[in-house]
Amino acid sequence: MKNIILSCIVCSLSAVGMLNGQNTSVQNIDTRVEALLAKMSLDDKIGQLNQVVGDISTGTDVSKDDLLKQVRAGQVGSILSHTNFENKITLQKTALKSNLGIPLVFGFDVIHGYKTIFPIPLAQAASWDMDLIERIERVAAAEAAADGQNWTFSPMVDISYDPRWGRVMEGAGEDPFLGSRVAEARVRGIQGKDLSDPTTIAACVKHFAAYGFAEGGRDYNSVDISEQKLREMVLPPFEAAAKAGAATFMNSFNTINGVPASMDKHLITDILRGEWGWKGMIVSDWASFGETITHGAAEDEVDAATKCLSAGSDMDMVSGVFQKGLRKALEKGRVTQAQIDEAVRRVLRLKFALGLFDDPFRYLDSKRRAATLEKPEHRELAREAAAKSMVLLQNDGGLLPLNPSGPFRRIALIGPFADSRTNKDYMSFWTLGVGNPYYDSTKVVTPAQALKTELEKKGFLLTVTEVCLNATCTEKDYSLARDAARDADLVILCLGENGLDCGESRCVSTLELRKEQEKILKYLPSGKPTVMVLFNSRPMDFKLAAEKAQSILVAWQPGYEAGNALADVLTGKVNPSGKLPMTFPRSVGQVPIHYNHLNTGRPQQNFGQMWTSGYLDQPSTPAYPFGFGLSYTKFSYSKISMSKSAYKRGETVDVSVTVTNTGDVAGEEVVQLYIRDMSADISRPVKELKGFQKIRLEKGQSKIVSFRLSEKDLSYWNRDLKFKADPGTFKVFVGGNSRDVQEMSFELQ
Ligand code: BGC
Repeated sequence: MKNIILSCIVCSLSAVGMLNGQNTSVQNIDTRVEALLAKMSLDDKIGQLNQVVGDISTGTDVSKDDLLKQVRAGQVGSILSHTNFENKITLQKTALKSNLGIPLVFGFDVIHGYKTIFPIPLAQAASWDMDLIERIERVAAAEAAADGQNWTFSPMVDISYDPRWGRVMEGAGEDPFLGSRVAEARVRGIQGKDLSDPTTIAACVKHFAAYGFAEGGRDYNSVDISEQKLREMVLPPFEAAAKAGAATFMNSFNTINGVPASMDKHLITDILRGEWGWKGMIVSDWASFGETITHGAAEDEVDAATKCLSAGSDMDMVSGVFQKGLRKALEKGRVTQAQIDEAVRRVLRLKFALGLFDDPFRYLDSKRRAATLEKPEHRELAREAAAKSMVLLQNDGGLLPLNPSGPFRRIALIGPFADSRTNKDYMSFWTLGVGNPYYDSTKVVTPAQALKTELEKKGFLLTVTEVCLNATCTEKDYSLARDAARDADLVILCLGENGLDCGESRCVSTLELRKEQEKILKYLPSGKPTVMVLFNSRPMDFKLAAEKAQSILVAWQPGYEAGNALADVLTGKVNPSGKLPMTFPRSVGQVPIHYNHLNTGRPQQNFGQMWTSGYLDQPSTPAYPFGFGLSYTKFSYSKISMSKSAYKRGETVDVSVTVTNTGDVAGEEVVQLYIRDMSADISRPVKELKGFQKIRLEKGQSKIVSFRLSEKDLSYWNRDLKFKADPGTFKVFVGGNSRDVQEMSFELQ
């Protein structure tokens, strides 16, 4: 009866709009939240702050682990990682039978697609195409929403310049400016214009914060970072996502200067909620409230609950710390009722904004599900995304695109990733990356499948030689590879990492290609024209390949449409336009390496120059710089033009260049603008990205590309932790990557 009454109260009001900023009915939602809060017991409230795991741990039998019982008792506010659709309906029905009938919110890691698998997020960032990224997230969210998920633990906006860290694949790379634009695009795609639209879901910006700066590139490790660096390198994408209206945030596992992020009041309350005025809900990372005890920063569950809630965190993902410790913390006077209420309000607001009170089954419509999941146009988008993410690093003699009227007719496709679908375990399947139980290796179009059709259509002859499967090579593999290469005019070698080599907890201490893969290269007949296609989740070191192969194409982990997208790029149907979102080092010994470093007092000009900041055994410059990527055409840049050479504070600085396609085919170029502050109060990075535009130019076409810099773009966090621009000289650079640029200076007066 109570349920019916509550449903009627809530149904008479309409919950629409987003949680932050642009919402249309926050007041409306607030009124409803207060009415509900007034009816809730302490247990009901603590229940709403508790998130438990769904059938990924219990299997399809939802009654296991007492899940249904806990939901019925109102002890669960949210369920994460639940897959079975029918069981979601059962769980939601059960929640409605609990004391106040508060609907559950279902959360899921929708990292690079839901049922249709797109390239990994790092690959998407390499497209530098924000419209594309937004469209990918729109599809991913629509599929997840149609399958009963209401909330994704995405985007991961952690900046990192440590490729040893397995999770770089889930982010947008090393740069806070690019990372901010990607973060906004993802939030827009996931949440759309209106959270109550049943084709959108809530975003969760993670991991707050500095998770990508773990010492040694080791997952979960401690972070020691200055406040200045935190604000410049780590926080910008979080702020951008918060301002784009992201409904929720997630804590990170790490400590920051000794404080576990889940109980970091400075981060959550002072910066996120205070300075940025963000009003959403923040969930812990998996058991991170409980891990405050392991960190040694909380004594027991009561202490952990006190510290996490007091810092401003709201929902406990699976550690049960709030269930075990919050009541006691209240009884002992360590937290107040008002603090608990505030956290509960944030959870309820999310549920109202998603429209779950108006119709708890709005995301559980089986007809919509059938009509939405894995539509053919989603696959089309996956193909477009994979092709636009690929980065051409080397193309000596213009070996690519493959030319049907050229001298190379017989092509040998060789390597462990040429046609692999031997491993049924989704986590181990190379093209897919990590993180989604729906990965189905049978749905991947392999390079062999796609190239067979596409190349033979054009008159090429293709042989496929799969060798070194499951990361082991025998002498037979090497001789097969050698024979296949010998009998062909050109070799396409598919090398890289396995699916299990990346993602959470999958850090590495070397970035080299596996030894057995390098050995395949050694077995190739010398001088054989070779294209290496690299399937990777992170920057890697492949010196030998760079010497032996004329062309190197970074394909990343491209998702279901791997083969088709690869065929599009290799045949020139798609002209590659991806640019690296992370520096590729020469070797792991250079890590951490990033383009936006400080100059030092002794920058090295040439390798071997003593008493400068370098190495004895290799240059300090990277193998491939941030922002780098070739095309099948060439672009030339004019000198930079600026309307004047001195600007007053508050004035905007206009910068433009003319970019011309001087090659033989149409292509896309990412025009990048960097600055350097030459006269700040503290040392500033040698380059900082402040703008980019992706343009398309027909053969012979020129375009003027203009950028506008504001005073904010020239500002930085100074010694007094004030965000300010200093008067003096600035350099401005424009080019197609962070190394090869046009340069000019101006004064800020
Ligand atoms: C990861 C999060 C993820 C969560 C839920 C954690 O281990 O760090 O990124 O969202 O699990 O699956």
